[in-house]
Amino acid sequence: MFPTDVYIQRRKRLRTQVQSGLIFLLGNEESPMNYPDNPYSFRQDSSFLYFFGLDFPGLAGVIDVDEQTECIFGDDLTVDEIIWMGPQPALKDKCAEIGVTQSSPSSKLGDTLKAAIQKGRDIHFLPQYRGDNLLKIEKLLAIPAAEVPNRVSEELIRAVVAQRSIKSEEEISEIELAIDIAYEMQTTAMKMAKPGVYEREVAGAMEGIALAHGGRLSFPTIFSIHGETLHNHYHGNLMKAGDIAVNDSGAESALGYASDITRTIPISGEFSQRQKEIYAIVFDAQRQAIQAVKPGVEFRNVHRLASNCLVSGLKELGLVKGDFDEAVDAGVHTLFFQCGLGHMMGLDVHDMEGLGEDYVGYTDTIKRNPEFGWRSLRLGKELEPGFVITVEPGIYFIPELIDRWKAERKCEAFVNYDAVEKYKDFGGVRIEDDILVTESGRRILGKHIPRTIDEVEEASSA
Ligand code: GLY
Ligand code: MN
Repeated sequence: MFPTDVYIQRRKRLRTQVQSGLIFLLGNEESPMNYPDNPYSFRQDSSFLYFFGLDFPGLAGVIDVDEQTECIFGDDLTVDEIIWMGPQPALKDKCAEIGVTQSSPSSKLGDTLKAAIQKGRDIHFLPQYRGDNLLKIEKLLAIPAAEVPNRVSEELIRAVVAQRSIKSEEEISEIELAIDIAYEMQTTAMKMAKPGVYEREVAGAMEGIALAHGGRLSFPTIFSIHGETLHNHYHGNLMKAGDIAVNDSGAESALGYASDITRTIPISGEFSQRQKEIYAIVFDAQRQAIQAVKPGVEFRNVHRLASNCLVSGLKELGLVKGDFDEAVDAGVHTLFFQCGLGHMMGLDVHDMEGLGEDYVGYTDTIKRNPEFGWRSLRLGKELEPGFVITVEPGIYFIPELIDRWKAERKCEAFVNYDAVEKYKDFGGVRIEDDILVTESGRRILGKHIPRTIDEVEEASSA
């Protein structure tokens, strides 16, 4: 846990950003896999963790903005529970660690909220993404579950997003710890990914590394020789010489901060000429995009810059023709780069996505572009010092998409379909790093993970 004062200050600031009423933050419950006593590994809600720091199930926090009081609602373990789960500090002792002086059994939460409702006070709560918490809100606030999404507090969402978006020194250190774990995962994968090895052996080893460091994966590992599928979670392929595997993976630090790193690995230890050419284009796009990251720059323009780089590289290879700027205007890049260049990262790998992507990545004036490809860009707004973002360009040859565009004669003036046809068996290349926006520019966070063609080949043939 961070020092007590960190949590006190975070809540104090939040209180000043909401006009009046109660701020009601629900922690998570255990989530059963196949029966109640057999749960998935517990993951606390990230906003609850940010403001209250307590990493246990069954808690709720209430901040009274007008009275300037705070209370954690939860229950101490019964002796019956201690028999199975061992002793735990009392709730009031846990609360002391985060500077909350008031705690109360969860049975009292309903009364507190009801009293506020009867007085006509506002109760601010965030969007919910778990069914059990949705039902809790339905019961506690008498709002039908289906209505809950329409009753969330925009004022609270905006306040939480503003605060969590700017990472403090201690948060950046945590993210770097998570990247150190990703370094071990990535370099282990480079060593292990050899002909005759199943993808799942590598994915399993990487998950083991994440767990051994006291955290967990920050998202389900994408490790696949079919890297053209952007989020490929299937790990059943046997790898063979000539394949390349996209390894998009990351871990959480013990305090829950994420890393998210992608490398593309040659299974035989060396890239073919064709693979090198595509890799070099993606590498150059990433390098130029990272270089463009600085305060005041709109990330949608960095996405555009990366798209230009990709298309101009593909033009040199003969896959794209015509003026590359006009080609990108026409959306040609989305035949090869169907997703966004990056996203915010913090306690969530797609930071705060559960609060609403547009609150996190866009503003009232910088709106999401609804066009294919552009609409998957999670972050478009101006960058600020303290943002932690990913920069992850890629080139993906998706046979079904190529067939469709070709049949529709889409962007025919810019795409050399005969040349593109030959890449339908290529797969994909993605390179991703985690970047801190600093006052003067940017810093690539964490230890250097092999990234150039030579570095990746060397690490992969070790
Ligand atoms: N690392 C997975 C993603 O960014 O969507
Ligand atoms: Mn990512």
